[in-house]
Amino acid sequence: MENMTLNLKTALAKVQSMSRQSIGHNDEMFLQRIYGEGLNKYTERLRAIGFAGHEHVLDAGCGFGQWSLALAGMNQKVSACDISPLRVDFLGNLARELAVPNLDFRLSGIDELPYADDSFDAIFCYGVVFLTPWRKSLMELTRVLKLGGTLYVNANGLGWYMFLWQEEHNKADDYDPKAIAARTFTDTQRYDRENVFEPGMNLIIEPSVLEGELQKLGFSAINSSGEGCIHIDPSTPTPNPFFKGDYKGQIGVYEILATLGNKHYE
Ligand SMILES: C[S@@+](CC[C@H](N)C(=O)[O-])C[C@H]1O[C@@H](n2cnc3c(N)ncnc32)[C@H](O)[C@@H]1O
Repeated sequence: MENMTLNLKTALAKVQSMSRQSIGHNDEMFLQRIYGEGLNKYTERLRAIGFAGHEHVLDAGCGFGQWSLALAGMNQKVSACDISPLRVDFLGNLARELAVPNLDFRLSGIDELPYADDSFDAIFCYGVVFLTPWRKSLMELTRVLKLGGTLYVNANGLGWYMFLWQEEHNKADDYDPKAIAARTFTDTQRYDRENVFEPGMNLIIEPSVLEGELQKLGFSAINSSGEGCIHIDPSTPTPNPFFKGDYKGQIGVYEILATLGNKHYE
């Protein structure tokens, strides 16, 4: 494990220097946050929710790929996709540097996936659906998931945007949390009432609404909790949340784990 950490540090330094010109202030700080302590914390979280030992897993909206790399160490095959060319290239270069043999990556939105129906045994989608036309994205994720497969998804309630507004969490030269929080209200109103979605929107999704949509799509055994709190494998340690499950009495970041019992989409 020590060697893996050393390899990861060396590979990250090389890949970051290759792409430095396009990595902005926010992304640079984000990379430091997600990779600063290595991959162990992701591996532990994934084990706690049963994302180990699968034949084929999708990391939907993989970003810079910390979850994809952790998944690749515990599953036979992993596919990763993201809409950002910078992030997909970064993960591609990193996977090559680390010689990861079982990870493929595609440039793609999760609302229109380049995979065949019933491709995956499990789908992991962390920190993404609320940046997409999420009802359509959930239909796509359902289409590519096998019957009996597992979906992990997380999203934000009102409390998360209150937190962004009040604490200006992770503010950077090119990332303004207060402005995002303010826009999120009108974005959500336009998406929910007028079915309008534009790239760059952030959407508040209350857990009961997301759960209801999953039920309509044919999911059952829906487990919902604060981010990092679902613990279904008792042989693993209690997982450590990364975000606040609530903020000043309002729902913050939450997660849902569900099993696809039937497929009910058109
Ligand atoms: C908060 S980051 C999370 C990334 C990664 N899952 C993680 O945990 O670090 C959100 C990611 O969603 C991606 N994204 C935004 N809209 C998307 C879409 N329609 N389809 C796929 N990915 C999208 C962004 O490019 C970004 O990498």
